Amino acid sequence: MNILLLGSGGREHAIARSLAKSKKLSQLYIAPGNAGSSQHGINVHLDILDFDQIKSWALDKAIDMIIVGPEAPLVDGIYNEIKKDPTTKHIAVIGPSAEGAMLEGSKAFAKKFMAEYNVPTANYLEITEDNLQVGIEYINTNAGPYVLKADGLAAGKGVLIIDEKDEAISSLKEMLAGQFGKASATVVIEQFLDGIEFSVFALTDGSDYVLLPIAKDYKRIGEGDTGLNTGGMGAVSPPPFVSDEIMTKVESTIVKPTIDGISKRGFDYIGFVFIGLILVDSEPYVIEYNCRMGDPETEVVFPRIQSDVIDLMNAAATNALAEVSLDINPLTAATVMLVSGGYPQGYEKGKPITDIPTTSNSIIFHAGTTMRQEELVTSGGRVIAITSFGEDHHIALNSSKKIAEEIQFEGKYYRKDIGFDL
Ligand code: AMP
Ligand code: GLY
Repeated sequence: MNILLLGSGGREHAIARSLAKSKKLSQLYIAPGNAGSSQHGINVHLDILDFDQIKSWALDKAIDMIIVGPEAPLVDGIYNEIKKDPTTKHIAVIGPSAEGAMLEGSKAFAKKFMAEYNVPTANYLEITEDNLQVGIEYINTNAGPYVLKADGLAAGKGVLIIDEKDEAISSLKEMLAGQFGKASATVVIEQFLDGIEFSVFALTDGSDYVLLPIAKDYKRIGEGDTGLNTGGMGAVSPPPFVSDEIMTKVESTIVKPTIDGISKRGFDYIGFVFIGLILVDSEPYVIEYNCRMGDPETEVVFPRIQSDVIDLMNAAATNALAEVSLDINPLTAATVMLVSGGYPQGYEKGKPITDIPTTSNSIIFHAGTTMRQEELVTSGGRVIAITSFGEDHHIALNSSKKIAEEIQFEGKYYRKDIGFDL
């Protein structure tokens, strides 16, 4: 098969690496990709939000399947564009229609969906300028912390957790006034849930599904889970605290009702469902849905999948998931993310990256990297994810941290405490 993979992060490098292992692959293209993805395919300069450009390029290259890494093209309707055009509708798309992608694209939509299908989640209010008083009254009459979520896509930055009443009320007003642009014209105020988080990933065709390995990521920039939220500073798969008993509960109370809901709503949904969960006294609640794989979770989830991932995606595209059973590496995978100094706020790009070990058992996934002539340089906040395997997360993380020490670029920072709470 000729495959076009959209995206440029560590997630896409990890997906590209798994695709390249398949005998079913003829040619892999990654748009725009990074300096690591080009080890497994050809990077191409396409704008992942320019669907006309993607369609004509895909026809020209006889692409059989498009795998969509990030959420923005999905929420914008890349699936719908490709499927409504008679010249491109034969191309398999891994990623849901715009309707299905609303599970990530609108928090208020996701909350209504969960309520309709009895999926456990925090209680909430939907607030706009029109019912601002309802939001203020909720904050005034309930104890904090207060969870304020921009309804729309906000690059992972749209959730504020605030202890003080006055600050929560002023933040609510600022959000509604456009702090996150149109994304926060509606704000979801949620009950605060106190517990430990982990994530479940399913590949679905809209009625059947296959569960992929579970993972836990570390979002905060600082050690001990402090400081600003980032895209993710590291991840572990599987998190050891998730017992078979908990997974049985997660599947029956959350995954099945979610996929049934997708089916009942009639969404065209061939792709990944990423369910962010929180365990409160061993009871799982949904924190969020995403319509794609996570980053850096993919850097630990995909390396553990030993089955042919093209067979897997083909099964989703042809309604054959019911017959699939996955071969998963039982070892623990852990990843540590090297980031640019200053991230997630302002940081410099173009720093030369050196001392990447060429022989090790770990996997070096590129995220924000690019080639400047012959030189590998940084091109983003999250630069490189180092994934290692071990009998447990301590062993895996020790291997990753050794390599994190070795690799050099100006301003390099990483969390040395990934897995501290496990
Ligand atoms: P989200 O973008 O919805 O995943 O939220 C970002 C982070 O905010 C989550 O990973 C949680 O750590 C935290 N969070 C979101 N919703 C809640 C909630 N209802 N209670 C406690 N923490 C939350
Ligand atoms: N690591 C969290 C995400 O991909 O949304």
